[in-house]
This record gives sequence, structure tokens and C-alpha cells, in this order.
Amino acid sequence: NVLILDFGSQYTQLIARRVRELNIYCEIYPFSKVPEDLSGFKAVILSGSPFSVRAENAPHPDLSRIRGKLPLLAVCYGAQYLAHFNGGKVEPSGSREYGRANLSVIKDAEELFAGIKENSQVWMSHSDTIIDLPENAVRLASTTDVLNAAYRIEGEQTYAIQFHPEVYHSTDGKQLLENFLVHIAGTAQSWTPGAFVDLTVDELKEKIGNQKVVLGLSGGVDSTVAAVLLNKAIGDQLYCIFVNNGLLRKDEFESVLHQYKDMGLNVKGVDASARFLDALKGLSDPELKRKAIGNTFIDVFDDEAHSIQDVVFLAQGTIYPDVIESVSVNGPSVTIKSHHNVGGLPEKMKLKVVEPLRMLFKDEVRRVGAELGIAKELLGRHPFPGPGLAIRILGDITAEKVRILQEVDHIFIQGLRDWMLYDKVWQAGAILLPVQSVGVMGDERTYEQVVALRAVESTDGMTADWVNLPYEFLQKTSNTIINRVKGVNRVVYDISSKPPATIEWE
Ligand code: XMP
Repeated sequence: NVLILDFGSQYTQLIARRVRELNIYCEIYPFSKVPEDLSGFKAVILSGSPFSVRAENAPHPDLSRIRGKLPLLAVCYGAQYLAHFNGGKVEPSGSREYGRANLSVIKDAEELFAGIKENSQVWMSHSDTIIDLPENAVRLASTTDVLNAAYRIEGEQTYAIQFHPEVYHSTDGKQLLENFLVHIAGTAQSWTPGAFVDLTVDELKEKIGNQKVVLGLSGGVDSTVAAVLLNKAIGDQLYCIFVNNGLLRKDEFESVLHQYKDMGLNVKGVDASARFLDALKGLSDPELKRKAIGNTFIDVFDDEAHSIQDVVFLAQGTIYPDVIESVSVNGPSVTIKSHHNVGGLPEKMKLKVVEPLRMLFKDEVRRVGAELGIAKELLGRHPFPGPGLAIRILGDITAEKVRILQEVDHIFIQGLRDWMLYDKVWQAGAILLPVQSVGVMGDERTYEQVVALRAVESTDGMTADWVNLPYEFLQKTSNTIINRVKGVNRVVYDISSKPPATIEWE
């Protein structure tokens, strides 16, 4: 187990993902909350930070229980911190050092740089520079602009690097992390999907015993993997509920319900479309729509769960990025959209919560899903928002609008599959605009709806760019939509990136 202390860098989660890719387990803690018990940790990594070590409010970790006792790798801010407060000197650099650099001098006899050649590309992101190294330090690498790009401290297993090994643009970053974690710290590479499944199944059996668990399936990857894992541990003590909110993709409720049954899950499909439509009546504000859907879901789910006797646990597909306690840098962040639409469920139901995926990143959930034998198509599905088509119909919702959008979305998504484009896109969908425009069909003037198509590439949904779909594909899709979907006479393609736009239009 590896401990990553976070100083608020945007890259901290990337460090954790790179470490996990080496099949090594790690956990992220805020720098101010070093765990009481360090006996389970074999190594520590200090993250970067948006702060300067010279700033008054700069993070000051208490490393007294770590330094010299556990192998330590300090990245960027961490490297500057160790220098600045231990007899070295950190000052603003003449030029801000961002982006690509090459290691011009490397002591490759050093274990940290084993297998890494001179000229190796690294990624820098800092505006301070280490002028003087701390006491007992030995320089290990430089770049053209940065003399002290890496150093270690004599007599301890303490290493510091100015660049970011966790970003893909640092070509040998993974090798460096492996050198530190495996060769220097002696950490075992035993964190595999298979090992996770075995361990978690045992833990779930132990925790749940012969009690009953209820779980809401959404059709998405996380809830599905959580359900299959629980099913493996406790079989029919798991009661799954799959709610049709009437805002899913065309035919999705039936086909996904079928797949769940084929997978051997004990699942009940509940068609509550009418109840959701009713709750949405007359609402056009996006946040009010989200709230209405979230509350209705809680009510429906609660009613269903009550029909099962003696349920003790509520299982959820929460994953690690939702759990990591963030280090606040600019004060509390502003809510752009309230994504956590079923947040009130555990409180209302007074059940104990079980979250078997809470320590996994999304890519690990997929790997665990594959290990459990879940079909590739299901694991590779695009993300789909909880409130579904309701936030892709701008303005108020009616059954007719849902029908139109389902048809359009179906043509678009099926087209992506047929053209082998589906897997190249991170997320795609159609948006029904509250706009009518004039068209002509045959000799008739039409005055009908406009739909927008959106397809983005992204890794985590935090940033995204529109996908350059082939013109022929767009042409064909637009034709099919206008010819087949009554009520639509115009199709546009969204070419906005996030930021400044968002992925969804509401
Ligand atoms: P935005 O629109 O914020 O979307 O760029 C980022 C990702 O989040 C999804 N999204 C939601 N997911 N409930 C959800 O479960 C929501 O209310 C919600 N709003 C946006 C969106 O589909 C994209 O993947």
C-alpha cells in the first residue's frame, strides 16, 4: 500500500492512477490528515500543488513520522518543499517553466533513473525553481532550464523530482514510478482485478452475512459491476431494482433488463415513467428538473425497497473520484450542476450503506467488470446522465418531446455503431432545442423542431472536446433524422469544447 499526500494539485489523481496501473494499491489523503497508523504503508509520494512554498498560506505537512522512516518521493511542490525548509533555497524562476523539457544530465547509475536514457522527455509545471539543494542532497538530473530537476538525500530513501512523472507526456514517468515503488521501496505488484474480486467477495460475505441488500441498477457500468460483484458474494440475498424513469434511450429499459436477467441477477424492473413525467410537468429550470427527478427516484425506490422484507443494506456504485477528500485551494467550489441526484437515498431509507467500488477508478471498474465476465458492449457503454433525456430536452418535458428525442438519439447512436465510431467517442447524444425553424418538404412549408447532435472525447468528463466526425457520416445521419422523425426539420452539430461549454446543454 502506497500513501499519496495531496497538496491540491490537479494531477494528484493521475499519480494514483499511474501507481494502480503498476498493480500497486494506493490511497490519497489530504496533506493535513496523515493517517494515524502508517504501518500498512510501504512508501509515500508527495503531490504537486498550485501554491508556492514561499506563500504565507502554503501547505505545511507534518512529515516527522515519514521522513527517513519510509521511502519518500516528492514531486514538484513536494520537491520544493523539502528543499526550502531544509537548508535549500527556492525562488521564482526567470521564466515560467511549463510543458515539455528534456533531461540533459541523468545519473543513470542511480536506481531512480534505471533504464531511463538521457534526453528523456518530461513535463514541467511550476513557476518557482530550486536554486540551492537542501542539506545532504545529491543532484540526480537536470534539464536545459532547470539545474535541480531531481535529487536525493544521502542516508535516507528520500527522492525529489521537479517534473511530473504521472502525466503521459513524461515518457518514462511510469518507469520512474516503478523504479521508486518496486525497486527502491520493495512494494508488491499484487493489486490485480482478480485479487480485488477475491478480496472484495470475502469482505462482502463477512460484512453482510445472511442479511438482505437492495441495489438500484441504472444500466451504467458502475451499478452493474457493483451488482455482479455482490451477486458473486451473496447471490439471491441481493435484490436489484431497475427503475424506468421514462427518460432512458429508446427501448433501453427492456433490453437492459433482459441483459441483467441473463447475467443471473435477481432484478425487478419498475416502470415509473408516468410518475416521473407527472413530477416534471411544467418545469423548465434545469436544476428544478434534476431535483424533481432525484426526489421521484427516491420515492419510487423507497416504495419498492419496502416491499422486500427485512432489508438491512443499501448498495451503491460509488467510485473513488467521488470519495477522495479534496484539498480546497480557492475556497469552496461553486456548484455548476448538481450531479448527485440520488444523494438523499441512504438518509431517507435508514439503511446501512455498502459501496464495493469506493476505492476504484473508472478504468479499474471496467477491468474488474471484464474479470467478472460482464459483456464488452455493456462495459464500453458511453456515460449517460441520471436525469437522462430530461436534461437534453431544453425547457419543459412532454411525452411527445421524449418520443421525438428518443428517435433522433437512436438514429445517431446506431449510426455511430454502424460506422465503427462508437468506441472512438467518449459520450454522444442528441439535444432537442426549444426552437422551431422554417423548412420545406415537397411543396409544403414546414415549421418544426431543431435538434443538435453532440459527440465528445474526454477521459473523465471534467474537460472535453468535440469530435471531428466524418462529414459523410453527419450528412447521412442528418438526412435519416429529418426523413424519419416527424416533427424535426433541421439538424445542427455542436462544436463547443468544455470549458467553456459543458457536455450537456443543461
Ligand atoms: P457536464 O454537462 O457537466 O457533464 O459537462 C459532465 C458529465 O456528467 C454527466 N452529467 C450528469 N450525470 N446527473 C448525472 O448522473 C446529472 O445531473 C448530470 N449532468 C451531467 C454528463 O452526461 C457528462 O458525462
